Amino acid sequence: MLGNFEYANPTRLHFGPDALEGLREELAKHGPTVQLAYGGGSIKKTGLYDRVTAILEDCGKTVVEDAGVMPNPTVEKLLEGRDLARANKVDLILAVGGGSVIDYAKAVSVSVHCDEDPWEKYYLRMEEPECAIVPVGSVLTMVGTGSEMNAGAVITNHEAKLKIGHVFGDEVMPRFAILNPELTYTVPRYQMVAGIFDVMSHLLEQYFSGEDDNTSDYLMEGLMRSLVHSSRIAVRDPRDYEARSNIMWTATWALNTLVAKGKSTDWEVHMIGQAVGAYTDATHGMTLSAVSPAYYCLIMPYGLEKFARFARTVWDVDASGKSDEQLAAAGVDALEAWMREIGCVMRLAELGVTDDMVDGIADATFIMEGGYHALDRAEVVEVLKASL
Ligand code: NZQ
Ligand code: ZN
Repeated sequence: MLGNFEYANPTRLHFGPDALEGLREELAKHGPTVQLAYGGGSIKKTGLYDRVTAILEDCGKTVVEDAGVMPNPTVEKLLEGRDLARANKVDLILAVGGGSVIDYAKAVSVSVHCDEDPWEKYYLRMEEPECAIVPVGSVLTMVGTGSEMNAGAVITNHEAKLKIGHVFGDEVMPRFAILNPELTYTVPRYQMVAGIFDVMSHLLEQYFSGEDDNTSDYLMEGLMRSLVHSSRIAVRDPRDYEARSNIMWTATWALNTLVAKGKSTDWEVHMIGQAVGAYTDATHGMTLSAVSPAYYCLIMPYGLEKFARFARTVWDVDASGKSDEQLAAAGVDALEAWMREIGCVMRLAELGVTDDMVDGIADATFIMEGGYHALDRAEVVEVLKASL
């Protein structure tokens, strides 16, 4: 049953090979000073930096350079970006990069005019911004997180060994996102695969929850089928436009909040993955892939019917002669086989997790109530040990 909900999404998308042209139109809507946030240098190697700065110059903008946003952006970098934005009174933060750069830009956007410590306010106390928010726009270069069209901003605090996501209100969503699939061709294979699994995980987190007949579940089955199909093509030929564009579009829809409307969701795999990330700084999508098979095997008995449906509708498993238990298990087997096929990391040890970290990671894992079964701490440890 679809409960009460409101839905609006303020992000204007410019999609396709010519999408970057849309940047001119978007820049015209904002003031003269633009903080250009980007990562470790990939945009300089690919030439995108030159293309973006040429457009900024053409549009008469003053550019405030904000380089070096690392994967899994840190609280120290957030404070640095906040101070830079304050000192230069920026009118727009333009994030050119993947989820890390866009998340970072959002976290800066709510911190510039905030008198309190942003880590404590937004991440420990989970409060909402009360201050003016600097608008954010994005040019996406790496597909997976959905950050281009949502209000999530994940920040890592290495000292506290915590990686926490805050989902802000609509006003924090990027005002625009430039989505050109060709800009993702240069993403290293490991990152591409991590991004693909991140998309699958976003869908699984929202799909494996609730027992009602819900339009969102049908939408997600379609998105998952498209993702599996296109991922197989993309790993063979990363420059296949059709596959890369389908994956990009699927990623945006997987986490722009639409499919979550009116239904419950889980997110426990992300909670475990983020705790793993806090300890290892590993690539987000791979922290999810390494723990997913063990997690889904554990919760399968509590959501058997949905797992059986997943096997039939997403993986075309032949149901004849199979019990629900057998069908459900075949679905998770198919998921795991696809993960191996495209090159996901399947073991936490490959990400640097060691036995002595398990207790700490379990302590850093938030427990969610929305899935088929809320884990207790012993079960988190069980999933981690089975995934080692
Ligand atoms: O830093 P540069 O040099 O740009 O290199 C990046 C980075 O090393 C590289 N890259 C990106 N685009 C490229 C490219 N290399 C060559 N060519 C390109 N076109 O890829 C590496 C990874 O980038 P990153 O932005 O870290 O990846 P991703 O998009 O997966 O973002 C991960 C972050 O997003 C958070 C994660 O926790 C993590 O911190 N998430 C955000 C979410 C949200 N906003 O809703 C939800 C997700 O579940 C996730 O938690
Ligand atoms: Zn994710």
